[in-house]
Amino acid sequence: MDFLELAQKRFSVRTYEDRKIEKEKLLYILEAGRLAPSAVNYQPWEFIVLTKPESLEKIHQTYPREWFKLAPAVILVCGDHNQGWRRPSDNKDHTDIDIAIAVDHMVMATTELELGTCWVCNFNASLCKELFELPHHLEPIVLLPIGYPKVASIPEKKRKHLQDIVHWEKL
Ligand SMILES: Cc1cc2nc3c(=O)[nH]c(=O)nc-3n(C[C@H](O)[C@H](O)[C@H](O)COP(=O)(O)O)c2cc1C
Repeated sequence: MDFLELAQKRFSVRTYEDRKIEKEKLLYILEAGRLAPSAVNYQPWEFIVLTKPESLEKIHQTYPREWFKLAPAVILVCGDHNQGWRRPSDNKDHTDIDIAIAVDHMVMATTELELGTCWVCNFNASLCKELFELPHHLEPIVLLPIGYPKVASIPEKKRKHLQDIVHWEKL
C-alpha cells in the first residue's frame, strides 16, 4: 500500500468492536509515535496508555461520548512544555506541532494495522490533568481511542480542491 492509499484509508473511526487490542499492536503504534521528528529533536511528549477499566472510566469523564466508551484502549498524549523547543526570534513554543506529528504517526500506524482511531481534542483538559495527577508542565493535548473498526465502508473524503489551496510561487 503506498502512502496516498493509506491516507485515503484513514478516517475518523467512531464505532469499535467489543474486542481488546493485542499489546504488540499497541507497541507498534507507540513505536511509530516515538520515531516522529520534533523540533531540535527534543521529543517533548509522554504517551499514557489506558486499557484498564478504572483508567478508561477516568478518561471517559473527560470526554463523555457514548462512541468513545466503545474503544478498548486510549492513548493520552501529553506535551511537555519544559522540553518543547522555543524559537529564539519570538519564543514560540513548538510543543503542539511536535505532538501533532507524533499523533499523526500513531494514527497512520493504527490505520496500517487495520485498526481504527479518531483524533480527540475536544475533551476537558483540566479535568484530565486532575484525574491523572499530571504535573504542571505536562499538558494533555490529544486522546487517541484505538479499536477494531465496526464500519461497513470508508466514508467519502470531504476536502478542499487542490487548486483552491495550492499556490505556485505566490498567493
Ligand atoms: C486536531 C483535531 C482535533 C479533533 N478533535 C475531535 C474531537 O474532539 N472529537 C471528534 O469526534 N473528532 C475530532 N477530530 C476529527 C475530525 O472531526 C475529523 O478528522 C475531520 O472531520 C475529517 O474527517 P476524517 O478524519 O474522517 O477524514 C479532530 C481532528 C483533528 C485533526
